[in-house]
Amino acid sequence: MADRKPLLSSDYDVKADAEDAQLLSGARAKTTRKHRTDHWIKLGLGVWAALGTIAMVAVAILCTNQVKKPDVFPPKGKRSVIFMVSDGMGPTSLELTRAYMQHTKNLDWDSTLTLDDNLLGTSRTRSSSSLVTDSAAGATAFGCALKSYNGAIAVLPDGSPCGTVLEAAKLAGYATGLVVTTRMTDATPACFSAHVNLRSEEDRIAEQQIGDYPLGRVVDLMLGGGRCHFLPNNTDGSCRADNRDLVSEAQKKYGFSYVGDRSGFDKIKKEGKATLPLLGLFAEKDIPFEIDRKDKDYPSLVEMAEVALNLLEEQTKDSDKGFFLMVEGSRIDHAGHGNDPAAQVREVLGYDKTFKKMLEWVEKHDAVLVSTSDHETGGLAAARQLHPTYPEYLWYPQVLANASHSSEYVARQYAQYQGDYDDERKFITDEVLAKGLGIQDASDHEISEIIKSKNNTGSSYVFADMISRRAQIGWSTHGHSAVDVNIYGSKGAERLRGNHENTDVGQFLADYLGLDLKPVSDRLKHEGVGPTELSGAEPYPWMGRGLEELRKLAELEEDYDPTLHHHTGLEHIDTYHGDFRKRSGGACGCGL
Ligand SMILES: *[C@@H]1O[C@H](CO)[C@@H](O)[C@H](O)[C@H]1NC(C)=O
Ligand SMILES: *[C@@H]1O[C@H](CO)[C@@H](O)[C@H](O)[C@H]1NC(C)=O
Ligand SMILES: *[C@@H]1O[C@H](CO)[C@@H](O)[C@H](O)[C@H]1NC(C)=O
Ligand SMILES: [Zn+2]
Repeated sequence: MADRKPLLSSDYDVKADAEDAQLLSGARAKTTRKHRTDHWIKLGLGVWAALGTIAMVAVAILCTNQVKKPDVFPPKGKRSVIFMVSDGMGPTSLELTRAYMQHTKNLDWDSTLTLDDNLLGTSRTRSSSSLVTDSAAGATAFGCALKSYNGAIAVLPDGSPCGTVLEAAKLAGYATGLVVTTRMTDATPACFSAHVNLRSEEDRIAEQQIGDYPLGRVVDLMLGGGRCHFLPNNTDGSCRADNRDLVSEAQKKYGFSYVGDRSGFDKIKKEGKATLPLLGLFAEKDIPFEIDRKDKDYPSLVEMAEVALNLLEEQTKDSDKGFFLMVEGSRIDHAGHGNDPAAQVREVLGYDKTFKKMLEWVEKHDAVLVSTSDHETGGLAAARQLHPTYPEYLWYPQVLANASHSSEYVARQYAQYQGDYDDERKFITDEVLAKGLGIQDASDHEISEIIKSKNNTGSSYVFADMISRRAQIGWSTHGHSAVDVNIYGSKGAERLRGNHENTDVGQFLADYLGLDLKPVSDRLKHEGVGPTELSGAEPYPWMGRGLEELRKLAELEEDYDPTLHHHTGLEHIDTYHGDFRKRSGGACGCGL
């Protein structure tokens, strides 16, 4: 983007110079024949001027062509793609983070994030089943370049698996990698490396990610959280329903090397090499929010992305094919679900830093960088009316700066408190609010609300609301919203300028690497048919339990997800049925 302005202005300068030269050469007509030498001198000058004009015009045409002529697409030769996903980051998150950065670093009002300088366009995010997508349908649009229903992990509304960019890349000889800050089995990474009917099938996703599915192993490198879905249910820190040990299977059956903690990561980081395929799982579930993360315990997104980049570059150095790397700022979304602006600005800053590092590499290599979001989360607004009287025009970044922990963190800290009532109020004001959130002026009412919420998962919402009100930041939902999200990218991603369907982003990734996804879908359909112990009635039993079965199971569970009721993607957009009267009070609708 930065090189466009100079090109345009030099283009203008060249045209201006060419006009000057034309005026000069036009003077030739006025030459008299009084003096031979005069004539020859003038003729010489004229020729020079004419040549100059031709040269100038040629330069002008060349320059104009450089701006107007589309680059050869897809480019030829060895090339790589880095695709970044800022899960749940809408346009407002950028303003929030930019203003926060300017405020805390004492920067001028026109200083920007690296993302700001590389804006290309916007993406329309609706899924096949709803105007408001979830991360599964959102990432299926990137992975398969096709629309599907909310909850779908690289599966289409007709229930068939769709081949992904990562799978096609691997089959075509590219190296592949996934880097995330949430569980590796969460929707975004899953939509590149697995196929299941519903995102909650994370055990099955983990199995496929190590290679137990029709295509075999397709991921060369995985760095992130979510260890619990890879460990057998009889071990500490497992969240699997069965006793398969996927860490051991990954090593023994599929040849992975494994690192499970910070020191293992540091060894690879320091040596700059590791044997691929590599499975690196650094947290039981999510890697903590940036605002809470301790460097000695967990790697950051930018560290993991850089290590992944170096390993994939090394892996492909003698190959005629590059790599496909997906890097997700997964927890921007979680801060949105929690309506926690203090946590979110730190997540976005970490993402921006990662984008900058990836961009620096891409600018020096035959590669392209694309970054976008699957959807917005929270219905974030950079202003909030607190009283019935006309609101002020402002919001206060210092409130976010004063917080040193996320609301999620202090809610957990408070939940562990065991003391009597008087001490509890003091514990809340001194330890939780003052030390954790930088809030010194809690009202009695607020403290009572915190105490009331202690026994359900809503207490983090109370903390987040205290910060948001003080900062005058607004939220309209604890879920997602349908606003278009931004697309950012390096040189080479110009096709994504303007407003696009989210599937165009996935198609761009495939096209850039010269990949055809359809044969991969066909392979999955044909090689993946067959009876299993799971459910012979399902057309693709290896994809896990069918939607119907999952829906019935879900209804029996306490945390029943009502979206399973109608948003199956097999119907059209749901119609109004008086929802605003329903679900008043009762259970906390706390999301992820
Ligand atoms: C653990 O796995 C075994 C075998 O797959 C299963 O029978 C058992 O119910 C599981 N236990 C739990 C607590 O999920
Ligand atoms: C931030 O913290 C400082 C130091 O405790 C305090 O003086 C200031 O009032 C706080 N600002 C806001 C906006 O909470
Ligand atoms: C929370 O749960 C504990 C233990 O079950 C109980 O003793 C306490 O009274 C509950 N507190 C509130 C505010 O409901
Ligand atoms: Zn998402």
